[in-house]
Amino acid sequence: MVSGDDHDQYPCGIAAHPIGLGRCTRNRGTIGGVSEQTIALVTGANKGIGYEIAAGLGALGWRIGVGARDRQRRDTAVEKLRAAGTDAFGVPLDVTDDASVAAAAELIVDHAGGLDVLVNNAAITGDVPQTPTTVDPTTVRIVVETNVIGVMRVTNAMLPMLRASASPRIVNMSSSVGSLALHTTPGVDMGPVPAAYLASKTFLNALTIQYVKELGDTNILINSGCPGFTATDLNGFRGVRTPQQGAAVAIRLATLPDDGPTGGFFDDAGTVPW
Ligand SMILES: NC(=O)c1ccc[n+]([C@@H]2O[C@H](COP(=O)([O-])OP(=O)(O)OC[C@H]3O[C@@H](n4cnc5c(N)ncnc54)[C@H](OP(=O)(O)O)[C@@H]3O)[C@@H](O)[C@H]2O)c1
Repeated sequence: MVSGDDHDQYPCGIAAHPIGLGRCTRNRGTIGGVSEQTIALVTGANKGIGYEIAAGLGALGWRIGVGARDRQRRDTAVEKLRAAGTDAFGVPLDVTDDASVAAAAELIVDHAGGLDVLVNNAAITGDVPQTPTTVDPTTVRIVVETNVIGVMRVTNAMLPMLRASASPRIVNMSSSVGSLALHTTPGVDMGPVPAAYLASKTFLNALTIQYVKELGDTNILINSGCPGFTATDLNGFRGVRTPQQGAAVAIRLATLPDDGPTGGFFDDAGTVPW
């Protein structure tokens, strides 16, 4: 797990360094004429795992865009992060809304001058019932709109800024429930999982690989992470991990060194099969 003491282990030129050593070209303001902060956007950062990702990256000295659709929940999260010492700013963001996402990109350009790291964390499970034979097709559409198309929408809007970063990272918060390999491994019991949610994460995994292929000639490291079964609103707080524990994998993938992996699917224990 990455902690505030881990800065020294990173070589120059990586997004993990709080002052962005090695960053070159962008026309951002400098701190004391010397350096710039690493800037990250976390979607769905007002609560749960997203909030803890924002807090964890903020503790590294990064500047954090707190992406959230509800004004009050966003303001509360930003205030709490700031009180804990994070350089946080609110980013109004509904990942299902083209205009909201475009405005978020503009706000980040205006407010921060660029973006180094995008954590696509926002997601929903959708209404039940969700077995393949009972699920309402509208539920499937809504879940895919948020969990898959939302990620594409945000990623594509932020891409120009990420391309301009010296050490860009994209982290897609997925889930091992989206792993077809695990679902088809004899003896592995994935438990009852909502079909629309499950398929949205499989879809997201496929998309992650396609982004890696298309952007293979860039320096953007793109990976999927699974936080494990974490106690949040998403599952009625039935999870067994804390949101802080759930955030650890995203923090690790957001702070990969320049020679770190891309196109992988990871949890705290290592690699998750696609
Ligand atoms: N918890 C687990 O056990 C678990 C396991 C595997 C994977 N994950 C993944 O981890 C990520 C975080 O989940 P979590 O457990 O922290 O869930 P959570 O507590 O329910 O938080 C989800 C976040 O996404 C936001 N969101 C939902 N729809 C949005 C939209 N249209 N636009 C912008 N934001 C939106 C929510 O905002 P509002 O407050 O406005 O609703 C909230 O901030 C998700 O990708 C989830 O699939 C979680």
